[in-house]
Amino acid sequence: MRGDQNKGGQVEQSRLPRHIAIIMDGNGRWAKQRGLPRTAGHKAGAETFRRIATYCKNLGLDYLTVYAFSTENWKRSTEEVGAIMGLLKRYLLEAIDSMERDNIRLRFFGDMTPIAPELRALAHTTDEITDRLDPADFQANICLNYGGRDEILRAVRRFAAQCAAGERKPEELDEKLFSSYLDSAGIPDPDLIIRPSGELRLSNFLLWQCAYSEFYYTDTLWPDFDEAELDKAIAAYQHRDRRFGGVKK
Ligand code: FPP
Repeated sequence: MRGDQNKGGQVEQSRLPRHIAIIMDGNGRWAKQRGLPRTAGHKAGAETFRRIATYCKNLGLDYLTVYAFSTENWKRSTEEVGAIMGLLKRYLLEAIDSMERDNIRLRFFGDMTPIAPELRALAHTTDEITDRLDPADFQANICLNYGGRDEILRAVRRFAAQCAAGERKPEELDEKLFSSYLDSAGIPDPDLIIRPSGELRLSNFLLWQCAYSEFYYTDTLWPDFDEAELDKAIAAYQHRDRRFGGVKK
């Protein structure tokens, strides 16, 4: 099912971004505005993720990458961290049942070593399902214990270790080879990065991959972000003049 939605009719189907990345920000403020605990904001945010991922797939995008938990988010209360991990667990359990039926691939970006064994085991199962699916299917990437700097450091360490073992030579390293050491190996860079909630920062998200991404900011809080908002962001992207450092023809 491709191109069956586009609610506002403002998206040009022929010039869709292949890859959209989203910083799912504003859950805490959304909850506070309603006198609810922050965890209620994350629960609503997880629902928004489900809706937007389905919409991206139906529009015909290839990739959606979302920032679910950063390397810095461990500073939050045990209750909040536990709630986010619980929402991820629930989502993975659902995904295990539905990925093959819906042809949705799922990958994680980030350092999974400090993640609870139960959640890691579920992520391992979704990885195995993804391996069986068609690489042309829509793919969602969830950034978990992810930091752009950390991703680059992990890549550098792995490359350096291979050099020390005589498997690689430093002079071989170019942008293409370096990209293959990142969590996003094999995935095109995001065309469009969206940050809701009015914050104008990148917050350690996809630092290498964002080199030529277009940015879109909106004051809407993530739990209120909907299909029409995504249409607006894509329409804005479609009016941008992407020159990748060149000049206009
Ligand atoms: C940022 O908003 C949001 C997070 C740190 C957590 C995002 C996690 C989820 C939406 C749930 C799990 C995800 C999936 C994919 C099922 P904030 O808390 O910083 O908001 P604030 O700036 O208003 O306080």
